[in-house]
Amino acid sequence: MFAAYLTFLSCALVVSAVVQRPFVFVDRQSEHNDGLHINTFTSYDAGLFTPMGNMNLLPTSEFTRLGHPAFPNYSVRIKKSDFCDGGVQSFTGYIDSEARHLFFYFFESRSDPDTDDVIFWTNGGPGCSSSIGLFMELGPCRVTNHNETTFNPYSWNEQANIFFIDQPVGVGFSYAEYGEAVSTTEEAAKDIAAFVSIFFEHFSKFKGRAFHMAGESYGGRYVPAFASAVYDQNAKLVQLGLTPINLTSIMIGNGLTDQVTMLASYYDMQCKNISVPPVQDISSCVRMKQALPRCEKMLKASCVDQFDSMGCQAAMMFCSTEIQTPFMSTGYNPYDLSRLCEGDISETLCYPITKAISAYLDRPDIRSTLGVDPSVTGNFSSCSSEVGAAFHAVLDSMFPSQYYIAGLLERGIRTLIYVGANDWICNWVGNERMTLALDWTGNAAFRAQPLREWSIDGEVAGLTRASGPLTFVTLYGAGHMVPYDMPKPSLELTKRWLAGEDI
Ligand SMILES: *[C@@H]1O[C@H](CO)[C@@H](O)[C@H](O)[C@H]1NC(C)=O
Ligand SMILES: *[C@@H]1O[C@H](CO)[C@@H](O)[C@H](O)[C@H]1NC(C)=O
Ligand SMILES: *[C@@H]1O[C@H](CO)[C@@H](O)[C@H](O)[C@H]1NC(C)=O
Ligand SMILES: *[C@@H]1O[C@H](CO)[C@@H](O)[C@H](O)[C@H]1NC(C)=O
Ligand SMILES: *[C@@H]1O[C@H](CO)[C@@H](O)[C@H](O)[C@H]1NC(C)=O
Repeated sequence: MFAAYLTFLSCALVVSAVVQRPFVFVDRQSEHNDGLHINTFTSYDAGLFTPMGNMNLLPTSEFTRLGHPAFPNYSVRIKKSDFCDGGVQSFTGYIDSEARHLFFYFFESRSDPDTDDVIFWTNGGPGCSSSIGLFMELGPCRVTNHNETTFNPYSWNEQANIFFIDQPVGVGFSYAEYGEAVSTTEEAAKDIAAFVSIFFEHFSKFKGRAFHMAGESYGGRYVPAFASAVYDQNAKLVQLGLTPINLTSIMIGNGLTDQVTMLASYYDMQCKNISVPPVQDISSCVRMKQALPRCEKMLKASCVDQFDSMGCQAAMMFCSTEIQTPFMSTGYNPYDLSRLCEGDISETLCYPITKAISAYLDRPDIRSTLGVDPSVTGNFSSCSSEVGAAFHAVLDSMFPSQYYIAGLLERGIRTLIYVGANDWICNWVGNERMTLALDWTGNAAFRAQPLREWSIDGEVAGLTRASGPLTFVTLYGAGHMVPYDMPKPSLELTKRWLAGEDI
C-alpha cells in the first residue's frame, strides 16, 4: 500500500501513505428532517425567503436546517456548539447536498465579529481534515492530549471570523450516502460555492463582508479553484437579485499549485544549501540531476502540452522514483528539513499531535457537542487514503491550478502565497518559481520586484516579493504547517494581509 501510493507523490506524499481506518458510510435514506427546525423556502423572489438572521438564536441541542431557493439541491444544518475558544461563539454543522454531507466549524472573531472579515480555511491532502488546521495550527484551541485543549493566543480568529471545513465527502466528519464520492477539485468546488452563498444569505450580518479563501498544501490546488467558483457564481447571484460574495483574497500556505515546477524543486531543496544544508548524499544528488531533464520532458509532453492519462501517470512514476523516493530514506521530516521525522510517518505524519487530535475527536462527548452525524462511526482519520487515492487516480494534482490564480489576479482578487522556508514537500523554491511564471498582465512588474526581507518588531521573519494584487512571502523557522511552527509570525502576517498592508 505504502509503495503503491508512493508513486504518486505530491504534497499528499505522507498523507496517502497512511494506512487508514476509514469511517463506515452508512447506506440509508436521509433522515435528517427528524428533530430539526425546518427553514426552507420555495420562492425567494415572491418574498418568501427569510434569512435566519441572527446566529445567536441557534440552539446548541439540535440542528437548525437552512435552505435557499436559489440552491434547491443544497441545505445547511447548523448548531451552536460553544467549545474550543471559550470566549467567542462557535458553531458546527453540515452542508447537505442530496447524498453528500460536508462538516464545518465556524468561530466568530475575538475582536469584532460584527465588522471583521470572514476567512474560509481548508487543509489539503487530498483527503485531509481541516481539524489539523483547527486543532494544531491556526484554530482557537490546540489539542494537547485526548482530554485536553489549550487556548491558542495566536489563532487567526484574533482578527477574523473563520470557517474550517472537512472536504470533500469522505474526509474527517464529512460523509456520503450510497458510497457517493467526489474525486476532482472542480466537483468539490461546486459544493463549496453553494455553501458559501447559503451561509451569507442566511446570516445577514456577514453579507458583503470581505471574504478570504485560505488553505494549505493541497489547498494550493483547492483554493484557486474554489475561489474561482465563488467568483463566477457571483454573476448568477447578481442575476437572481442576491448579494454577491465579497471575495477579496486567497491565501495559500505551502501550496501545491503547479506540480511540474514543484517536482524540479525537490532536487534543489534536498541537494543545495537552501534553507538548510543539503540533506541528500552526493551520489544520489548526481543521479537525480541526470534524471531531472527526462522527468521534466516527460511531464511536459504528457501532462502539460497535451494531457495523456497513461503517459502522465508514467511520467509521474518516473519522476517520483528518481526525485522523491530517495528523499524518504534520509529520515528527514518531509514537512520540515530542519528536523527528523517524529514517530512513524504513516502513523503520526511526523507530528505526534495528530494522534492526540484523532483521539480527542473520537470522544463520544466531543462528537455529541459537535453534532457529528450518527452515521459517521469508527475512529477518526486525519487523512482519508480513499479520498487521496481517488484524486490521484484521476491525476487531479496535475491540473495547472496556477491558471485559476492568474484569472483571479486579472480580476483584482489579492493573492498571498506564503511558505514556511524549511518545508520540502511543498517548498518555497517551487512556489516562488510558480509565482514568477504566472501568466498575467502584472507578471513583468512582479518579476521586477526584488525578494526583500520582511520583519516583525525589527526581527527578520522571512523574504517577500509583492506587486499589485500578488504577494509572495517566506517564513523562516517554519516548515509545512506554518501556524504550528511559527504561530506569532503567522498571525502577524495574516493581520497585515487582512488589513491590506504591505508585508
Ligand atoms: C438538482 O438535482 C436534480 C436531480 O439530481 C437535477 O436534475 C437538477 O439539475 C439540480 N438542480 C440544480 C440547480 O443543480
Ligand atoms: C484523561 O483520560 C484518562 C484516560 O482515559 C483518564 O484516566 C483521566 O481521568 C482523564 N483526565 C481528565 C482530566 O479528564
Ligand atoms: C468588500 O470588502 C471590502 C473590504 O472590507 C470593502 O472595502 C468593500 O466595500 C466591500 N464591498 C462590498 C460590495 O461590500
Ligand atoms: C549555506 O547557507 C548559509 C545561509 O546562506 C550560509 O551562511 C552558509 O555559509 C552556507 N554554507 C556553505 C557551505 O556555503
Ligand atoms: C479505534 O481506536 C481504538 C483506540 O485507539 C482501537 O483500540 C481500535 O482498534 C480502533 N478501531 C479500529 C476499527 O481501528
